[in-house]
Amino acid sequence: RARIRVRHFARAKRESIRITGLTSYDYLSAKIFDDAGIDFLLVGDSAGNTVFGYDTTLPVTVEELMPLTAAVARAAERALVVADMPFGSYEAGSQEALHNATRFMKEAGAHAVKLEGGERVAKQIRRIVDAGIPVLAHIGYTPQSEHGLGGHVIQGRGGEGLEQLLRDARAVEEAGAFAVVIEMVPSDAAAAVTREVGIPTISVGAGPECDGQLLVWTDWAGFSTGRTPRFVKQYAQIGQTLRDAAVEFQNDVRSGAYPAPEHEYDQG
Ligand code: KIV
Ligand code: NA
Repeated sequence: RARIRVRHFARAKRESIRITGLTSYDYLSAKIFDDAGIDFLLVGDSAGNTVFGYDTTLPVTVEELMPLTAAVARAAERALVVADMPFGSYEAGSQEALHNATRFMKEAGAHAVKLEGGERVAKQIRRIVDAGIPVLAHIGYTPQSEHGLGGHVIQGRGGEGLEQLLRDARAVEEAGAFAVVIEMVPSDAAAAVTREVGIPTISVGAGPECDGQLLVWTDWAGFSTGRTPRFVKQYAQIGQTLRDAAVEFQNDVRSGAYPAPEHEYDQG
């Protein structure tokens, strides 16, 4: 089970083998996804919602993501582990970006970092890549700029939207990103980017023609509360399973059905 490397991403695009990614925030889920053969695990700042209970990803800090990244990295034997750079950890300049990217690699054992933005963060991407750290770019809808974008709005629509998406994709490729996440854009726009750039495109709600697909695992497994976006397919109903188990446990304890003799220790 050889480690997935960034060169495998390039090869996958060349050979039209689709890439798979899931988010992960802890050791146990990472072990399972790694064992199942998922190519990369993103320790997303979506942890702000799924782990920490914030409304948005904006409050998430490097300090909060560091131990989660370390746990996922300890679990992953094959998958490439990508640390998501949180809001406020890279925008101010290349030096800050490199400093924080280095921390994820050095202190948490990540294999790559991700940061949001196209043209506007090309300098940061270049600086990090020059230091030997692989960068996964992220364009289209970028949740950290929710307020700047005017809400949860689909990107890449219309001629102008597509032009911006293409400019962003070219800029991150030029800056040295090994792949680019495209979030919440029309399938045709993502397909155009996929044809235009040499690096693999990873869809999060960007249609079937990208070179890979990524989902937030808690949405994908039916573990999230509230409504999930249109693009999510739920592959399990973990939330309902856990709820049913908790109710059954409660009933068993109250009725005395648990613990049963097989759960007890005897005198020896
Ligand atoms: O934080 C995250 O989970 C993400 C992906 C869904 C792209 O950035
Ligand atoms: Na993110």
